[in-house]
Amino acid sequence: MNRILVLGACGQIGSELTMELRKRYGNNSVVATGHRTKPSEKLHDSGPFEFADILDRESVERVITKHDVDTIYNMAAILSARGEQNPQLAFRVNVLGLYNMLELGREHNLERIMVPSSIAAFGPGTPKVNTPNETLMRPTTMYGVNKVTGELLGNYYFQKYGLDVRGVRYPGIISSGTLPGGGTTDYAVEIYYEALRKKSYTCYLREDTVLPLMYMPDAIEGIIKLAEADVSKLKRHCDYNINSMSLSVGELAASIKKFIPEFVCEYKPNFRQTIADSWPKSLDDSAAREEWGWQPKYSLEAMTKDMLTKLSRKLNKG
Ligand code: SER
Repeated sequence: MNRILVLGACGQIGSELTMELRKRYGNNSVVATGHRTKPSEKLHDSGPFEFADILDRESVERVITKHDVDTIYNMAAILSARGEQNPQLAFRVNVLGLYNMLELGREHNLERIMVPSSIAAFGPGTPKVNTPNETLMRPTTMYGVNKVTGELLGNYYFQKYGLDVRGVRYPGIISSGTLPGGGTTDYAVEIYYEALRKKSYTCYLREDTVLPLMYMPDAIEGIIKLAEADVSKLKRHCDYNINSMSLSVGELAASIKKFIPEFVCEYKPNFRQTIADSWPKSLDDSAAREEWGWQPKYSLEAMTKDMLTKLSRKLNKG
């Protein structure tokens, strides 16, 4: 039986991942940890919650020992846009924090550590369309540099110590639960909120900016599926491309307009445009499909319908 620790459980992905893991493995088998953010009532009341800081190794070690943890999902990160505003903090959290977790994994003989990477691991010189799993990786953001480092470190710990570290390269994730923070792809969530609230949105990227995006249920199903995959079938460890939708901001806006005809989207690019322009538009995910059965379910239309339904409910309540 897995005893799972989710780091960054109050964040955009961590919060929904924790609830799904609790549903699958039992509430008490999944310990949620946050750094400073107060957990939602749902997260706090549905299972164990602890405060811990990945930069303070002992604080995580105490949780591992107290709850007899054997698996970590490390969802704590400083994303790309915030990372450009504070590269030193990004390096500490994304690299030194991960290093601490890998060392704890080695010392405590943990069964598995899941560490998401990102499309940000690629750079302007990488082929942009159907980007291969194995290709030129020279990112130009601190977040991207950190993510490549994380992939290499995870692969190293696997080969050197037999620590089972695994990860997918996430695209921009769209979700209706916890808001994302500090990312370049945050627009893809904000646009839905503003469409419902104000019927208009001003995007900080150009209309023709195409990026890989994914709906949260697919993102969660993907990482859990990889965690559960038979290790003998895996030819890679921390660097699986996974792809779902490849969309321009204009196409995303048009899909919302089908449901909210008055919706108007305007474009005022800022520094995040340069970051977005350095990333791929779509990824070749054949290795993930072949080795562990990656298969996203949501289309753009199904996602937009679901987002608008869930957010309308949420905004009407609040
Ligand atoms: N969503 C992330 C970001 O925008 C990409 O991994 O930074």
